[in-house]
Order: sequence, then C-alpha cells, then structure tokens
Amino acid sequence: MKIQTNPFENKKFFGRENELSEICKRLGLEDSLIEQCNSFQFTAPRRVGKTFLATEILKKAHEKGYLGIFINVEGCLNEAYFIEKFISKLLESNSLPKKTSTKLQNLRSISITILGTGGAVEWENKKSTIYKELENVFARYNGNAIIVIDELTILLENLKEKASPFLYWLKSLRNEYKNIRWIYCSSMSIDAFIEENNLHKSTIDIESFDLGEFSKEEAISFIEKLSAKKADFNDGCIDYLLKKIEWKLPHYIRILFNEICHLLTENQQVSITIIDQAYSNALNNKDILSYFKIMKADLKQYKEYEKSAYKILEALSHNAAGIGKNTIKTMIYETKNDENDIDRIFNRLKTGGYIMKNEDNKYTFRSPLFRDYWKEQIDKNKIK
Ligand SMILES: Nc1ncnc2c1ncn2[C@@H]1O[C@H](COP(=O)(O)OP(=O)(O)OP(=O)(O)O)[C@@H](O)[C@H]1O
Ligand SMILES: [Mg+2]
Repeated sequence: MKIQTNPFENKKFFGRENELSEICKRLGLEDSLIEQCNSFQFTAPRRVGKTFLATEILKKAHEKGYLGIFINVEGCLNEAYFIEKFISKLLESNSLPKKTSTKLQNLRSISITILGTGGAVEWENKKSTIYKELENVFARYNGNAIIVIDELTILLENLKEKASPFLYWLKSLRNEYKNIRWIYCSSMSIDAFIEENNLHKSTIDIESFDLGEFSKEEAISFIEKLSAKKADFNDGCIDYLLKKIEWKLPHYIRILFNEICHLLTENQQVSITIIDQAYSNALNNKDILSYFKIMKADLKQYKEYEKSAYKILEALSHNAAGIGKNTIKTMIYETKNDENDIDRIFNRLKTGGYIMKNEDNKYTFRSPLFRDYWKEQIDKNKIK
C-alpha cells in the first residue's frame, strides 16, 4: 500500500500536537472514549497550515494501515476532471483488488475520452453510470481509508449549479460507508459559498475544525528548531520577532527566518536591527507577493462588496492601532450602507484572515506584514 501525500515540499511538519491528537482520536486513529466522527472540514484562512496538517494525518493513518488518499481539486474545471483525478488517485494507491482496479481503469478511460472531446452532452449521459460504479467500488472496499480533498471551494465554484448534487453525492458516501473518513480543506470562503447557495444540509454532518496560529511556546520552539546550527538569537530577539509578526503562523515565521539567514554574516548574532531589515525584505518576498495575488483574486469574489472591502483595508493599512466599527461604517457609507451588508463584509474579511478585532475592540489587519505590504502598495498607487 502506498500513501499519497501532497508532494509539495520537503519541509518538516512541526508541532500541532494537540490538534493532531484531537483529530486522530475523533477519526478513530487513536484509542479514545471521545465520540467519533468520520469527516472534518479544516477551515482557516490561507497559509495557516490546513494542507500540511491534513498531510500529516494521512501519514499517521498510513502507519495504522489505513489507505490514505490526497486529492487537490483546484485544477478540476468540471465533474469529469474531478472524477478522472479521483479515479487516478484510487488506482495509484495500489491497494484495490484487481477486479476493482480494472473497473476503475475503464471508468477512467471513459472520463478521459469525454474530457478529450469536451462532450458535455456525453458526460451528462454517462455520469450517473460512472457515479454508480464508483459507489460500488466504495461498497466493496472494507478496509479503512482517509480521503483528503484539498481546495474544495475552488471545485465547487467551478461546478456552479452542479455543486449542489455533487455535495449531496459526497454526503451520501459519508453516510453509507463509515469505514471511509474524509477531510476537506478550504479557505474560509467555503462558508460563504454554502450560505450563498443555501447548501447547509449538504455539509451538516461535517465537523468544522478551526485551525489557528501556533501558541507562543510552539512558535518559540519552532524558531529554535529552525535556528539549530544556523542562527543564534540575541537575548529577547525571539520575542521581538514574534511581536513583529504578531500572527504566529509557521509560514510567516519561516519566511522571516529565511530572510534573517540571508542577512547574517558568519558568526553574527541575530539582533533587532537584523530582524527589522529581514521584515522589510520580507515585504518583497515571492511567497508574500504571490499571497497578495491570491488575496486580490479572493476579493474579486466579494463582487458587490469588493469596493467596500478595499476601502476598509486601505483605511486599516494606515492605522496600526485599529479603527472602531462605527468609524469604518461612516467611511464606507457611500459604497455600502445596509447594516447587514456591512456585517457581511466584516465577517468575510475576518474569516478570510485579513482583519481581526484587537483588545481595544477595534479592527486591525490580522497580520502586520499584510498591513505594511498593503500600505506600501497604496503609497505606490498599485492598489486601486
Ligand atoms: N505544522 C507545520 N510545521 C511546519 N511548517 C508548517 C506547518 N504548517 C504549515 N507550515 C508552513 O506553512 C506553509 C503553508 O501551509 P499550508 O500549505 O498547509 O497552508 P494552507 O492552510 O493549506 O494554505 P492555502 O489555503 O493557501 O492552501 C507550508 O508550506 C509550511 O511551510
Ligand atoms: Mg492548502
């Protein structure tokens, strides 16, 4: 049996012991009296670590003899693409009986032919048979399995009106075959999609798992781990770094750490000056730049709320201390003045990981890095 993980990186997974333990117990991978569930949805903003965590769970499942399947569906433009990919991943696992594999190979050939000819009509004619046959494969499989579907929201958006039957098909699989567990990963916009399309019932049985930042201790240990043999921090500098990035995500810690390493000369210790310089260099880091491309595409999905969202972000980018909700409402009054609409924008920006409420009950950017990048772009007139 082969495990399929996301081959995206050779970076090592760190920490998240509590999260891993809780999920593994709930999925039945670890002995526990806790009530079990067979599906999770990892909801968290971009770059929080959903895919990394799901991949780590697949590794643990593999150690327990489970079949582990990882499918990133972001490139699946329609159902036929999804089915083709799904079948390919099942086949790659090399863990199905020969008869089942042959059946799957046939189904895959049909999907490929349809994809090749772009035949929407042909797909509509064949799809119920293909779905049925796939269900038969599930029915015959009596081992344990975990299937991770990454970037589900993108697929749902591509499926448009077909998203609803697709989600109900997944639900029927979950209800019918309890030996198969599911993890769906998506940035928070899945909730907006479900709400907009009134699809709550199709996902009601899925447990949401809110993934957050590292705890302070975890973040310190992570920096210490990264630093081993590479960097030596002056007293108080790890704390300074954490205050600087505020949002203690491994992704941003790693980016800043790499920038620090680029600046360090031999035997030089990490100082506040180096951290400040690394932080300003990080604003031009390619990972940060690509994040902002994604962010802009995400804001486009806000449609009628896009303009107001930009206004809010622009105002917050110039105000590190934060701005009260009423002041922001006045600012966006021209573009949006309905209370419900305004709340919807705030919620979307919050769940998207762009903004948060601080201790003074004011709104600020979730990450100072985003805030400073945004400000820099506005000052250079690069944001409309
Ligand atoms: N537990 C972890 N240990 C070490 N590094 C991590 C961990 N979690 C995340 N990272 C780092 O953060 C990066 C982003 O993680 P990941 O791709 O899992 O985020 P994501 O939530 O799936 O983001 P997206 O919504 O953009 O797909 C990883 O490439 C990795 O460098
Ligand atoms: Mg991901």
